[in-house]
Amino acid sequence: MGRLPSPGVAWYRKNLELPKSDSDKSIYLDIDGAMSYAMVWLNDQLVGGWPYGYASFRLDLTPYVNFGGPNQLAIRLDNPPHSSRWYPGGGLYRNVWLTKTNKVHIAQWGTYVTTPKVSAESAIVDLEVTVENNSKDSEEVTIENEIYELDEFGKPADKPVASFPEKSLRLPASERAKSHNSIQIESPKLWGPYPQQQPNRYLAVSKIILGGKTIDLYETKFGIRSLDFDSKRGLFVNGEHVYIQGVNQHHDLGALGAAFNTRAAKRQLELLREMGCNAIRMAHNPPASELLELCDRMGFLVVNEIFDCWERKKTPLDFHLIFPDWSEPDLRAFIRRDRNHPSNIMWSVGNEVGEQYTGNAGAAVAQRLHDIVKEEDPTRPTAASFNYAKPHMPITAVMDTVSLNYQGEGIRNAPAYAHLKGINTAPMYPQFHDTFPQKLILSSENGAAVSSRGEYLFPVAKGISAPVAEGAGGNGKHGYVSSYELYTAPFGSSADKVLGSLARHPFVAGGFIWSGWDYLGEPTPYYLSRSSYFGVIDLAGFKKDRFYLYQAAWRPDHPMVHILPHWNWPDRKGKTTPVHVFTSGDEVELFLNGESLGRKRKAQNEYRLRWDNVAYTPGTLEAIAYKNGKRWANSTVTTTGPASQIHLQADRSVITADGRDLSFITVELRDANNQLVPDANTPLSFTISGPGEIVATDNGDPSNLVSFTSHERTAFNGLCLVIVKAKPGHPGEIRIQAKAEGFGTSETIIRSQ
Ligand code: GAL
Repeated sequence: MGRLPSPGVAWYRKNLELPKSDSDKSIYLDIDGAMSYAMVWLNDQLVGGWPYGYASFRLDLTPYVNFGGPNQLAIRLDNPPHSSRWYPGGGLYRNVWLTKTNKVHIAQWGTYVTTPKVSAESAIVDLEVTVENNSKDSEEVTIENEIYELDEFGKPADKPVASFPEKSLRLPASERAKSHNSIQIESPKLWGPYPQQQPNRYLAVSKIILGGKTIDLYETKFGIRSLDFDSKRGLFVNGEHVYIQGVNQHHDLGALGAAFNTRAAKRQLELLREMGCNAIRMAHNPPASELLELCDRMGFLVVNEIFDCWERKKTPLDFHLIFPDWSEPDLRAFIRRDRNHPSNIMWSVGNEVGEQYTGNAGAAVAQRLHDIVKEEDPTRPTAASFNYAKPHMPITAVMDTVSLNYQGEGIRNAPAYAHLKGINTAPMYPQFHDTFPQKLILSSENGAAVSSRGEYLFPVAKGISAPVAEGAGGNGKHGYVSSYELYTAPFGSSADKVLGSLARHPFVAGGFIWSGWDYLGEPTPYYLSRSSYFGVIDLAGFKKDRFYLYQAAWRPDHPMVHILPHWNWPDRKGKTTPVHVFTSGDEVELFLNGESLGRKRKAQNEYRLRWDNVAYTPGTLEAIAYKNGKRWANSTVTTTGPASQIHLQADRSVITADGRDLSFITVELRDANNQLVPDANTPLSFTISGPGEIVATDNGDPSNLVSFTSHERTAFNGLCLVIVKAKPGHPGEIRIQAKAEGFGTSETIIRSQ
């Protein structure tokens, strides 16, 4: 769980003022995420609770409210130890809302939008509205629904594009009723994954009218799109093939911990998009709603996942303890909350669950979950990811799709694993495809490659994939894994091997790398570290070399070429120092100090070019890439002088003074020629003045155990990160300074407004 303690009991208390004039209202507490086993009291009376820390839930406070007087709200959380395989966080880490409604109102998550018929010419929009009557009288209400276009920022247009015919609905006392509405929209602006398509969205505004007065107004953002899951050709969105170039993401935000922050989440998505990623698997639990909203807005496809275990445990105090009682309410709540998000294309009900090993009993659990999903949302397919189950096992037949973790590359099929006996070494895609010819196959997890940004260890493995071994791949003493990007967890495969296997099985719809960003916890292979090595992007948000390997494959039209390693090796003069190159071109000529080391061409399903016998001599490496015989891109790597200056660069120099918006400041150690020094590991300290605060610092090194809130941090291979927020309501100039002994002080200025 990442050497970050999060278990324990926590109490939150808050006074609520609710005027006498509200005594005819319903008062709800909406909790988006409380880690975990939440229990809620109002004025000393137990209102209720919800154990799963990733769930969003609502409690009705009304019977306990003292209208016109003081109200004491109390929330108790009890986060058990050993409840998770990664860092779960603790406390109220997502938003908490007080919701006040008329007694007659649209229920929690009370709208459900589907688009059963979609074309460029027209689309049918079905809107189901659930109205709740908390009063003791039966009521007759009118429902009005309108649809507005949303702009890219989520702002609605002035005029609606469609108004549904008015409907009336009879609501018996203390009951709910549903209204079904349907309308056709001409020339709809479709939602699709960016950049292949545009993520256009609409807003449904639903009004409840009683006695001529609007008593509730409820907004539902949605998208018009069609999905087809073709077992031979993959995913089709709006009739167009979309290859899934995805990553797995855990819920934490690195140095900021598990507490959700919209800007930090957006930064994660922005960097993933730059790599060419178009899909996120929410590993392995319901994400913050705001993250799904970002995926909708930015045009990412989402596999939305709820559980990492069912009845069979993975850690002693995980969800298996409450699975029998809570799996159904949790699953229903999850689907109702998230079923209007156009980004959401699939419901995953489990990840590598122990029920893979329990034959028919396990299949029965899977069937129960699958059936619940179908009741709540028949429009999306189900999935459960298997790292063990094989086509003949009963559990694999249950879900609509086949979701495979690591089996697609043939776990351990590299020569390096040959000594492991009794393990299936062949890619498993064909077997599943033959057994389930009608089912879409997805690589829900692949890779599990590991690296520490900017660390290179010698000698370098000769094959295209190898488990980390002491010496060449890893250095346990320092907790580093080599960034030649060939090394993996024992069951994993390098990016090269994953991409090759996917390319050789074109019926597979694509896949999700484990993992997009590094995350807190699970620091395979060095369990004294705090955070993972799996990310293509490190915990601080700095790109590892692998980023460019994927970018080359996923954005073939984006001219680029990337060289590794760096060229600062004072101790390696004359020693063999392999040079690897990633490019979206097809050929590269490599030069060392102007002398050609040869021109090489990528073979089919090859993702890197390597010059294995380069004798190190200081100077400049230059790679010139070609595509179809034409010059395509070039880049250089140069031996630098010693670090002598600090350079600060904010990702955004103007932020909102709301206490939430963030500026991420990259701190670079540079030499006298202003070049980044890739092996500079200098201790730095940071200060801030003006209406801002340093929230956290990081350097992306998983083995760095300095507290994230510290204002002192040693740069890791030239880089450091400072995360700044502005004081709410105090706009102004914020100065951030960085100091290192012998370097003097450098600063950058940002503004809050
Ligand atoms: C998978 C698992 C992930 C993560 C990954 C890397 O088996 O589903 O949650 O543990 O391996 O270790």
